[in-house]
Amino acid sequence: MERLWAPWRMTYIRRAALLKRCVLCAALRRRRNRDGLIVHRGRTCFCLLNKYPYNAGHLMVAPYAHKATLAKLTDADLAEINAVLKRDFRAKGQAKMDRLDQDAVQRACNLNADNPPDSVAKPLEQAQLKTIKYPSGPMLGDWKSGKKIAESGRGMQWSEKPGSPGGGGCYNCHQLSAAQTSYGTIGPSLLAFGKKRGYGPDTQRYVYGKIYNAKAYNLCSEMPRFGHTGSLTEQQMKDLTAYLLDPTSPVNK
Ligand code: HEC
Ligand SMILES: [Zn+2]
Repeated sequence: MERLWAPWRMTYIRRAALLKRCVLCAALRRRRNRDGLIVHRGRTCFCLLNKYPYNAGHLMVAPYAHKATLAKLTDADLAEINAVLKRDFRAKGQAKMDRLDQDAVQRACNLNADNPPDSVAKPLEQAQLKTIKYPSGPMLGDWKSGKKIAESGRGMQWSEKPGSPGGGGCYNCHQLSAAQTSYGTIGPSLLAFGKKRGYGPDTQRYVYGKIYNAKAYNLCSEMPRFGHTGSLTEQQMKDLTAYLLDPTSPVNK
């Protein structure tokens, strides 16, 4: 499967404002576990399936406490959530247990509801910036390959052979070319990115760096760190940079 396209979610999203209580509390109040898609009830938290998943088999762990951020949970709640995550997640194929470990950036963002003070955020951003390895030659690859990478949602899955080329899943969060009518809106529209921001070396360096490690520019960005995690290769990131910044790319038509 290249993309999980879920148009039926729209009815739910449009009605969300009318919901009387949060979806997690509503699930908990259902008489039967299966009606709330609940698969486990712990001491302070429970596990349920996402009815409108972004990923195949999207399982969620939620506290009984009606709290919106990890920062608001007690240490006991957090400890049980971590224990349940580690118990229910099994290493399989290339998906190893280290996927559950947070690095310093994720910890700072989780503990500060994605809005850490500058004194915490700035040094971490600086350190992230230093991780970016720029290509030694030209920054732009082939936009036609970049288009395929932007449209593909593959990569990092347990069922894939380690090292097999993944995709960027850019359309999950961004509009890019006007020819693609299905796209997510978590990120800003990148339509005509080169036309608006310029095609020059500074923009090229920014786009390559942003794809490599988005959190170097915005610590708690929801955008994945494609180069930092090794999920895209240098050539793939150059091809994506071309997709955004080649004047002949459909993004700039
Ligand atoms: C999970 C959602 C998500 C995915 C997937 C994603 N992005 Fe983003 N992206 C964001 C968000 C949110 C922002 C805005 C916040 C920020 O700057 O980090 C952003 C910002 C950007 C920007 C900076 C825009 C500007 O105006 O400066 C670029 C360029 C970009 N993304 C390119 C890409 C490309 C190329 C891909 C695919 C390889 C991609 N993104 C995948 C969420 C995502
Ligand atoms: Zn709730």
